[in-house]
Amino acid sequence: MAILKIARMGHPILHQRALPVEDPSAAAVSRFISDMFETMDDAHGVGLAAPQVHVGLRILIFFVPEERVTQVPGDGPIGLTALINPEIDLLGDETNLGWEGCLSIPGLRGAVPRHTHIRYRGQAPDGTMVDRTVAGFHARVVQHEFDHLNGILYPERMRDHRLLAFVEESARFPIDLAAYEAEPQT
Ligand code: NI
Repeated sequence: MAILKIARMGHPILHQRALPVEDPSAAAVSRFISDMFETMDDAHGVGLAAPQVHVGLRILIFFVPEERVTQVPGDGPIGLTALINPEIDLLGDETNLGWEGCLSIPGLRGAVPRHTHIRYRGQAPDGTMVDRTVAGFHARVVQHEFDHLNGILYPERMRDHRLLAFVEESARFPIDLAAYEAEPQT
């Protein structure tokens, strides 16, 4: 087990498309995923994608803590999950605005529009297939981590950059997202 170095915004690996894992059952893959879990835990994150630790492979990990669960039906807490070669289907047209941070963009947070409902699939390190239809924050964290595999960081998904703020300042000057969500999106 090891804590890995996290790439920060500006490092080119964060803008590259990650490659499929050819042998998801390889021992090296499961060792690497253990290191990703240790790294995420050390950094107090809720998600991490392999490119964030300088490995250009299609692997992501996340969990959904109770305190981040939204009121949206289909959202709910979920334990530590690792997905190898994941796929996402965006379900329906409904989107919602919610706060995100990123271990590669420390100290900032931004309100990002994401699809409310998704289905995702991927291989777990034990060889089983994960296939879940989820909503709310659960759907948000998976979309955020999946974007990392395609070289996309959350500010690129934002439509209103007034909603990008230092965490400390946004605690001093809270923003009511409902007021922004009501604005027509053009
Ligand atoms: Ni991130």
